[in-house]
Amino acid sequence: MTSEVTGERLAGLARYGSLHLLDEVDSTNDYALSLAGKNSTAIVVASRQTKGRGRFRRPWFSDEESLAASLLVHTDVPDFPHPSFLTHLAGLALSRAVEQTAGLPTQIRWPNDVTLGDKKLAGILCEGRRNAVAVGIGMNLNQQSLPEDLPEAVSLSMATGRQWDKFYLLEDFLREMFASIEQSGKGGSAQVLADLKQRSAIMHRRVEIQTFLRRHVGTVVDLDPEGRVVLRTDSGRLVVLSAGDARKVR
Ligand code: BTN
Repeated sequence: MTSEVTGERLAGLARYGSLHLLDEVDSTNDYALSLAGKNSTAIVVASRQTKGRGRFRRPWFSDEESLAASLLVHTDVPDFPHPSFLTHLAGLALSRAVEQTAGLPTQIRWPNDVTLGDKKLAGILCEGRRNAVAVGIGMNLNQQSLPEDLPEAVSLSMATGRQWDKFYLLEDFLREMFASIEQSGKGGSAQVLADLKQRSAIMHRRVEIQTFLRRHVGTVVDLDPEGRVVLRTDSGRLVVLSAGDARKVR
């Protein structure tokens, strides 16, 4: 199903920035970054991406049933949170948006996945250029099944048995995202951090975290104020990690 976008919905989305609705694009993040420097917020949504990418430049599966969108924000404005925190704010906003729209409790698998049960529902990819960051969100939305090489993924339809309007979900995401940006930039980051911990899929869990350099195994004991994971490794050391792939282990 391709969502029909109504005038009312368009107006709702356009309140947050200039709106670019595309049938096909290589990557909504690239398109959004090409708009950087104009100093205006932009929202880019595509029905199809030919070169959608995930973290570590992995290919990202998306089709017409997906939500594939990027929000371009400019970071050199007063009270703007640190750009490295945007991934966490986007995870929180997406998790809240799914809860509000579909009534499902999702979790945030640090640093950039939104999960349902232990399956991946959505991913976030933040990329910067000059004074701007493209916050890319990719969600499996209305698929009845997903490619066989993605056994650990789920769509919102597979979880709920019904179809969802991607623009409705996107509007919920944007509202939550801007609220979190404002809260975080205006001294409310302690509350944002508490909310992130509360929704975390890995807090106090035993995990394996693969970074560029090595694999760490241990228990997550905290998220620090920069959103980094504090891990007590099996050998008893405390390590602080700012990026990596986390997966629960026994
Ligand atoms: C990940 O889980 O590795 C992040 C996936 C991010 C995918 C989205 S889809 C919209 C935007 N455009 C891209 O090319 N990637 C992001």
